[in-house]
Amino acid sequence: MNDKQLVALHAAAQVEDAMLVGLGTGSTANYFIDELARRQRDEGLNVTTVASSTVSSIRAHQLGLPQVSMEHVSRIDLYVDGADEVTPDLSLLKGRGSDLVREKLLARACDRFLVLVDHSKLVARIGEKYAIPIEVMPFAWQLTKHRLEAIGGRGNLRAIAGTDGLAVTSHGSLVLDMVFDTGLDTRTLDAALNATPGVVEHGIFCGLASVLLIAIDGKVEVRQASNGKT
Ligand code: A5P
Repeated sequence: MNDKQLVALHAAAQVEDAMLVGLGTGSTANYFIDELARRQRDEGLNVTTVASSTVSSIRAHQLGLPQVSMEHVSRIDLYVDGADEVTPDLSLLKGRGSDLVREKLLARACDRFLVLVDHSKLVARIGEKYAIPIEVMPFAWQLTKHRLEAIGGRGNLRAIAGTDGLAVTSHGSLVLDMVFDTGLDTRTLDAALNATPGVVEHGIFCGLASVLLIAIDGKVEVRQASNGKT
């Protein structure tokens, strides 16, 4: 069993009957979806799910997990997802996939948000390894990029690898991948991005994670957030 699978199984064991569960996106979340489906089949677990992306929705459907669409949901019990970076205070960088609006909605709407990572995702500061994904309204991308450059950002529209096309989210937004080498702390940058016109959503998740499950050397380490949901 690999590290991602290990934390995913640990998280799936925490799911209880009658829960409404948010399904994340990515390879770690896929292991979680698979294990939920196995528990439903082998143990009679009775859950309803809501997906953070089309890809996860299709996977859940293929595995026979009951789903409800997001427009019918006002809160959920549990959200389980991976992350691209995690800092010691459990701030996250997410959105290497393209559905980070849905991911942040579920992270905000849940009673508990379990974040699943292996040790390669641990960083000292957000943006250490990856650019920050910023979803922008298509007609506003130049104005928004200019504003972001004024606070020290540099970057460009995300392209679809191997093609001449631009990445477009499932809601029709474009994605700017921006690096900020400005020394701005994560919360200040989070607030600045929240206040920038034309930004639909961005990949910094501050104060949203409840619990971090880290796979290290075949064991699961659990870290509780001091400033997130309990
Ligand atoms: C999806 O948009 C991201 O936020 C994922 O949660 C992230 O890329 C984690 O992916 P892996 O589980 O494949 O590492």
